[in-house]
Amino acid sequence: MNSKLLKSSFKFRPRIREKDDPFIIQLLKKNITNYDGRFDDYNACVKNLNVCTDHLVLEGPSGKVIGYIGLIKNKDSIFIKFAVMDERYQSKGIGSLFFKELLVNLKKQGIRTIQLQVDIVNTRAISLYKKLGFKTVKQDFLKTVMEMNI
Ligand SMILES: CC(C)(COP(=O)(O)OP(=O)(O)OC[C@H]1O[C@@H](n2cnc3c(N)ncnc32)[C@H](O)[C@@H]1OP(=O)(O)O)[C@@H](O)C(=O)NCCC(=O)NCCS
Repeated sequence: MNSKLLKSSFKFRPRIREKDDPFIIQLLKKNITNYDGRFDDYNACVKNLNVCTDHLVLEGPSGKVIGYIGLIKNKDSIFIKFAVMDERYQSKGIGSLFFKELLVNLKKQGIRTIQLQVDIVNTRAISLYKKLGFKTVKQDFLKTVMEMNI
């Protein structure tokens, strides 16, 4: 899908607390390994979302929340805590465009370094991050820490 088509059918916007939260939490529970086990009740999930200082929501053509990125900002660097797409929209190039939009926004805000952590078995996400320009800075047998300067 080209970026023009994406921009005409999808909308990037900030999170609307309470209204979006059930949908964001559903996306995380369905698509993030072990998320459910770690946050067994709704309030714990909201608390976990609120750890993020910045939130970017992707709305699909029917107005549904189909993607979410949660970030923790710290002066001129930022940590990507959550990144998720609705499973029906995965592997269609939309996540890449969602991230490219994010990078442009972060650069405008004066962010210089972006960091994230990903499970080493999550080859799809790692492949996406490498294509965007992230490099591995630390790795153990479970997780990879990746970083990018913009
Ligand atoms: C990770 C995620 C956000 C990426 O979004 P997406 O829309 O699926 O990604 P894209 O379709 O833009 O694909 C990005 C790259 O991933 C790789 N990729 C996509 N689908 C893949 C698949 N089924 N298998 C392996 N690699 C794949 C490709 O390298 C692709 O780049 P290309 O299209 O230029 O070849 C999304 O897949 C997701 O929500 N996954 C589950 C949650 C998750 O793992 N989050 C990240 C935690 S750190």
